[in-house]
Amino acid sequence: MEVTTNDNRHLTIGGIDAVNLAHKYQTPLVVYDVAQIKAQINAFKRVFEEQQVAYEVSYASKAFCATAIYQVINTLGCHTDVVSGGELATALKAGFPAEKISFHGNNKSIAELEYAVKSDVGVIIVDNFYEIELLIKVLREQNKNTRVILRVTPGISAHTHEYDQTGQVDSKFGFDIDSGQADKALEQLLNEPNIEVLGLHAHIGSQIFELGGFELVGQKLMQIAKHWQDKFGYETKVLNVGGGFGIKYTAEDTPLAPEKFVEKIIQVVKKQAKELEISLPAIWIEPGRSIVGPAGYNLYTVGARKDIPGHLPYLAVDGGMGDNIRPALYQAKYAAVLANDPKAKIQETVHLAGKYCESGDILIDELALPKTKPGDIIAMLATGAYGYSMASNYNRNPRPAVVFVENGQAKLVVKRETYADLTHLDQPYL
Ligand code: LLP
Repeated sequence: MEVTTNDNRHLTIGGIDAVNLAHKYQTPLVVYDVAQIKAQINAFKRVFEEQQVAYEVSYASKAFCATAIYQVINTLGCHTDVVSGGELATALKAGFPAEKISFHGNNKSIAELEYAVKSDVGVIIVDNFYEIELLIKVLREQNKNTRVILRVTPGISAHTHEYDQTGQVDSKFGFDIDSGQADKALEQLLNEPNIEVLGLHAHIGSQIFELGGFELVGQKLMQIAKHWQDKFGYETKVLNVGGGFGIKYTAEDTPLAPEKFVEKIIQVVKKQAKELEISLPAIWIEPGRSIVGPAGYNLYTVGARKDIPGHLPYLAVDGGMGDNIRPALYQAKYAAVLANDPKAKIQETVHLAGKYCESGDILIDELALPKTKPGDIIAMLATGAYGYSMASNYNRNPRPAVVFVENGQAKLVVKRETYADLTHLDQPYL
């Protein structure tokens, strides 16, 4: 994995010395290179503009949710999608325009729907019949209108980790197509005067490397659009094809550039529009991982070491599964470097262990490193997606701080939790 260094041989992130960041803000620390986030979004936009189609890039904020990221996404004129009242509250508090927010979820509560409608979110992505019922009730009560997109399950399995698959028929998300559920849902929604149906949504999974699934999803959604045109005279204005573009975590991963997936989707949708003789809808994408993943770094300080004759040593750092559950949960692989000297000669292979009371708390099973000593800084790479956002207080460890770097400046954007934060919801029993 490519990294950059400075004259002190230290790792740099966005031009800033990572060891200095670790000392200044303490570890474990999550650092984002904002220029990298912006570059990826601009690459997505460029493809759409070159191909001259109407579009929106909607950042899937479950990948990393905080006030600062919503602000950055907003400066780029993008949309965002939220999947809970909590994400919605964060986006709104960050000043994200409500009309650019899409609200997702397979079991939105009535309180969440009330909140979304009251806040005038741009789009509610409806997922099931129960939700339609609740939404209609909420709209009537508040005497409001809303725009919706109908989520369907396209019956396409992406080749990725099982937990990351969402598009196959046997899935908790969206309306089934072949059994007529999607048609029935559309009919119900079209009959509602308070609801404007913008179009169709599908998301086939996450960390996908193959183009094939996206080609199929483009085709499938356009076939549904054609069918709806013929059956209901309904014109699909928006085709939201979800996110899921895979990123490089280790040297073994060789994904296409994320915007290449989008290029393919646009081609397929355009071709289908011509062949099926229906108008070309706007294409919306909602990537999360590809926007924030590669731009994130987790910095840790080296602590204890255990050497076992005949086995690899365990090198422990001051974080672990509480700030990045992905290795333990999905057996996710990451690369890491010694931030004090990433280009130093490799001298040994270690198990990079976390500090949590669980044998499975191994961040990297086999990591080749130069010789290290306590106090050295290890940087895990491409940790920006689903790391901090899935962080926990397991073992009552405080969650790390988050820093954004850009133009040679570092800014603390999420404070480190304190012990007081950890107990502030507790109530005495005795
Ligand atoms: N849209 C929908 C409807 C989604 O469910 C997701 C992710 C996305 C967009 C964004 O997908 P992305 O571009 O980030 O792949 N925690 C797992 C990933 C779960 C993804 C859930 N949905 C992980 O750490 O791998």
